[in-house]
Amino acid sequence: MDPNRVIIFDTTLRDGEQSPGISLNATEKLEIAQQLARLGVDVIEAGFPIASPGDFQAVQAIAREVRGPVIAGLARAHAADIERAAEAVKDAERPRVHTFISTSDIHIEHQLQSTREDVLGQARAAVAHARSLVEDVEFSPMDATRADVEFTAEVIQAAIDEGATTINVPDTVGYTMPAEYAAFLGRLYELVPALAGVVLSVHCHDDLGLAVANSFAGLQSGARQVECAVNGIGERAGNASLEEVVMLLRTREADIGLTTAVNSREIARASRLVSRLTGYPVQPNKAIVGRNAFQHESGIHQDGVLKERSTYEIMSAASVGVDDVNSIVLGKHSGRHALRSALMELGYEVNGQSLNQAFKRFKELADKKKQVTAMDLEALVTDELRAETAAYTLEWFDVEASTRRPPHATVSIVAPDGETMRGDFTGDGPIDAIFRAINAATRREARLREFRIDAVTGGQDALGEASVILELSGSTAAGQAVSTDIIEAAALAYVRALTNVEQKVLLAADEDAGEPVLTRAP
Ligand code: KIV
Ligand code: ZN
Repeated sequence: MDPNRVIIFDTTLRDGEQSPGISLNATEKLEIAQQLARLGVDVIEAGFPIASPGDFQAVQAIAREVRGPVIAGLARAHAADIERAAEAVKDAERPRVHTFISTSDIHIEHQLQSTREDVLGQARAAVAHARSLVEDVEFSPMDATRADVEFTAEVIQAAIDEGATTINVPDTVGYTMPAEYAAFLGRLYELVPALAGVVLSVHCHDDLGLAVANSFAGLQSGARQVECAVNGIGERAGNASLEEVVMLLRTREADIGLTTAVNSREIARASRLVSRLTGYPVQPNKAIVGRNAFQHESGIHQDGVLKERSTYEIMSAASVGVDDVNSIVLGKHSGRHALRSALMELGYEVNGQSLNQAFKRFKELADKKKQVTAMDLEALVTDELRAETAAYTLEWFDVEASTRRPPHATVSIVAPDGETMRGDFTGDGPIDAIFRAINAATRREARLREFRIDAVTGGQDALGEASVILELSGSTAAGQAVSTDIIEAAALAYVRALTNVEQKVLLAADEDAGEPVLTRAP
């Protein structure tokens, strides 16, 4: 392989999915994985198969259906984890097992309650076991940047001896700094000459806002794989953001000399899809994918860009696919064929019943909105995806709201078993009333943790996109929905969050083989 080619290892569906409140179902994960393949990432870390049956099934579906990238499954350094991960990825074109164990004394002493000697033995056994099941094995000494470099080197040497093909050095808690990380990796190269014969990978968290800078320092020290996530999502403050790493390498290629195989024009679409399905908004000033990333506010800047774009822009909006969104516009009279072509251009192959449903939603929207943009279409298609998997259905609702009386809501919900349930509530505001009416109907004591409503596009007739995070019996999960009526969007998002949180509670009970925790209130 070209020594200047950087492998983009995407962990949106694994580390990214570990962000609080994110609960993607298998269909949503597959949709994201297909977009990652269009984006041209080299490796998709599809999940942590031992974590739950749902995780296993999602990784397996991605391995079976997504073509192009290597599909990796994560596993602790335990035989059962490794076997589960290998089983989940076995139908991929190119399967990988990624196994890890901590090498820092903090983790060894307090979390693993073990010894260095034992960790060394476990790492060796894990890689050997993984290699007996798959050809492509990645090993990570977790919390490496806070570990003793000599001991980490010893563990890495053992992993390479047992056949690891990629060695990833994680900055698990986002603690290191660029020069320090570079020195750490440089020392590992000295201590383990065999490291030059495998792929060295970097995996940086953003607790101090240095994830991309540290990853870049790693590349300059010889690493040729970067682990990153779309929109920088991940544990706590997140992972290095994929779009920032890729566009840094592309924009400064003449100086850095490193390349990737990413089709950067798919970045904006990947970012929107991940944001919409996870319910994690992208901050407006976020590099590359924030809505202001290519906007010029000051008159001086606008004047400069109108005369010559390079005066204030170091890359074009087109290079990350932002312009695509503005070029697809449908109107009230557009037909089924135009809708299908627009969806194809957006990367959605919609036929048969799904096309009929999409067309129905499009017509309803076109009656209320002069121009339906690509952003609207994407929002509708992803909304349909969620509707397909929602166990509860919002049949109808009534909300009476005025400044003279407390708002009152009545809802009718169809439960997963087909039972129709009604509930009503007088709340502090119309949204509060409808949320509590849904709790009353379903006899669940779900607690609202977060609620947001955003406009999909600008304009008074914009679609509203609601996002809800709920807590039930110690589990949290999110739900999202779009509608031109923001109360309807909020109610649908609540009902979907309820579906997701119930599934999480049931899974948690399954894992603990514990008591049934989901009983309806009397
Ligand atoms: O941050 C970390 O150390 C990880 C490992 C599992 C690679 O996510
Ligand atoms: Zn991580």
